[in-house]
Amino acid sequence: ATERTLSIIKPDAVAKNVIGEIITRFEKAELKVVAAKMVHLSQEQAEGFYAEHKERPFFGDLVSFMTSGPVVVQVLEGDNAIAKNRELMGATNPKEADAGTIRADFASSIDANAVHGSDSPESAEREVSYFFGADEICPR
Ligand code: CMP
Repeated sequence: ATERTLSIIKPDAVAKNVIGEIITRFEKAELKVVAAKMVHLSQEQAEGFYAEHKERPFFGDLVSFMTSGPVVVQVLEGDNAIAKNRELMGATNPKEADAGTIRADFASSIDANAVHGSDSPESAEREVSYFFGADEICPR
């Protein structure tokens, strides 16, 4: 079924100047960008986005990394988009990511892991609406 998922190109990948290379991978996999913006997240925005991880020991490092520079937030649309995006990204820890995945090719650590993608239909719904109003999404 056609789904939407939230993708974030994280500060490390923006700093490496590989925004285009990452978006090309989405497009080659038949995921369409239907919304996009570059933002430098505030602490409040990053904490709210990652609220489910608030009690985890890595929460402070995660928020400080995600606010360390601009990110590119996108809505990707396509058949099976949530799982497809997760396959393209590879494992959260780049050391465990399969060869040829975005994280294997561009990430350097579990925090600086190049991309985020929604992990379920419920989180996709929450994450898309966290960043985009209905009028900012352009079905095509
Ligand atoms: P992301 O998909 O953005 O969701 C939460 C992020 O926390 C994750 O990617 C990692 O970058 C970061 N993180 C840091 N340490 C861990 C950990 N031990 N387990 C899961 N995520 C972690």
